[in-house]
Amino acid sequence: MGHGAGRRTPIRVQLANAQPGQEALVEGWIKTSRFSKNVSFLHVFDGSTPHTVQVVLATPPDEELKGRLGIHTSVRVKGTWVESPGGEQSLEVRCEPEDIEVVGDNDPSVYPIQRKRTSLEHLRTIAHLRPRTNTFQAVFRVRHQLAWEIHRFFHERGFLWIHTPIISASDAEGAGELFNVTHGAKHEHFFGKPTFLTVSGQLQVECFASAYTDVYTFGPTFRAENSNTVRHANEFWMIEPEMAFADLDDVVALAEDFVRQTAISTLDACADDMELFDRFVEKGVVEAVRKTVEHPFARVTYREAQEILQKSGKDFEFPVGFGSSMQAEHERFLAEEYFGRPVFVTDYPKDQKAFYMRLNDDEQTVAATDLLVPRIGEMIGGSQREERHDVLARRITELGMHPEDFDWYLDLRKFGGTPHGGFGLGFERMIMWLTGMKNIRDVLPFPRTPGHAEF
Ligand code: 4AD
Ligand code: MG
Repeated sequence: MGHGAGRRTPIRVQLANAQPGQEALVEGWIKTSRFSKNVSFLHVFDGSTPHTVQVVLATPPDEELKGRLGIHTSVRVKGTWVESPGGEQSLEVRCEPEDIEVVGDNDPSVYPIQRKRTSLEHLRTIAHLRPRTNTFQAVFRVRHQLAWEIHRFFHERGFLWIHTPIISASDAEGAGELFNVTHGAKHEHFFGKPTFLTVSGQLQVECFASAYTDVYTFGPTFRAENSNTVRHANEFWMIEPEMAFADLDDVVALAEDFVRQTAISTLDACADDMELFDRFVEKGVVEAVRKTVEHPFARVTYREAQEILQKSGKDFEFPVGFGSSMQAEHERFLAEEYFGRPVFVTDYPKDQKAFYMRLNDDEQTVAATDLLVPRIGEMIGGSQREERHDVLARRITELGMHPEDFDWYLDLRKFGGTPHGGFGLGFERMIMWLTGMKNIRDVLPFPRTPGHAEF
């Protein structure tokens, strides 16, 4: 252990490369153990793969050691790779009891995770231990892979990853859902003016789109909204591409390519983990996602969408018709029942959307788009941006905001501006869509929701 070159080979690599007769060194945690007179088994995982190593003991361990080899005890096992007569795996590790070193004991009488299934709700209260359980092992491997595929997608298209600030001085969404940054108990403005945790990197990344053409952010985002829903967290991660010389059609086209390619490549790379979700979390989710991205997504205007909702004959809880705000029930009806696939809704009324969206010629609607996805609802929100200096300044004033706060943002319209646009993807919502996990709290390593911040 340790000492650089002497570190163990991950189980994923050993399972792929080991040959019968080779020495094995496995470090990990026990998932299950089973002892009998003739033969005993340990299944050991290290997080590098959903597969465990089956460790087989021909000699039974003594009672003392047996008692220590329970769930999530950490062990180091030295043995020999041999062909496995059982069905599950092709190779297993054969060893003697003295080849098993207990690295860290785990007393099952006080350990809060039991061998039988523990509920997701209970596991939320032990956020420090839940990554060891099967479901969370899979969730965070898929989360990692999706992040990787997203960076790959943009990198291959020449988009630059820009690290926009986490401490921000601009309310990018104008929605006032801000967590203030203060300095110690004195509540003074450390930066000489009010600052808060970013609600979006978009405004800052627009500066870079005006210099590198194609850019994106990928970082944590904070919103002080008091929404206790399965789709909202107060800290979540957002991906925000921004393109210069682009209009709403370009934004929609990028979003569709993006969702299709990152979904397929993540499912391909995580085939083993996806089996767990397919069997235990959301039956048939893999096939459903693959089918969903096989065909072009639908596209309607907000006005058309409201007409569809009015004619649907559905008894919605919230009102429909031009001017009504789209609620989750409407979004899901459109994506799941009416279109049966993801749908871009465009051209929302201007008073429902942020100040920076480009005003359409009707002066009523803006060049916005939300991507509504079955089971999830809104997964992406984006727009073409208002590039006309006078129109933007007027919108800022109309909305009761102060143009002087947005000097720099208005400058981008004055000094070599271009038509431009982009979108924001809720990273956790995409993970939920891919895996079928139902609650955003279960796809975040340490979820922050109203009243809850574990560690
Ligand atoms: O629609 P939103 O608010 O758009 C923006 O922030 C723009 N600046 C994006 C852009 O054009 N660059 O947020 C984008 C996405 C939503 O569609 C949703 O998926 C996710 O972020 N999101 C949340 N996810 C989890 N918890 C929350 N509280 C979220 N709020 C938004
Ligand atoms: Mg939105």
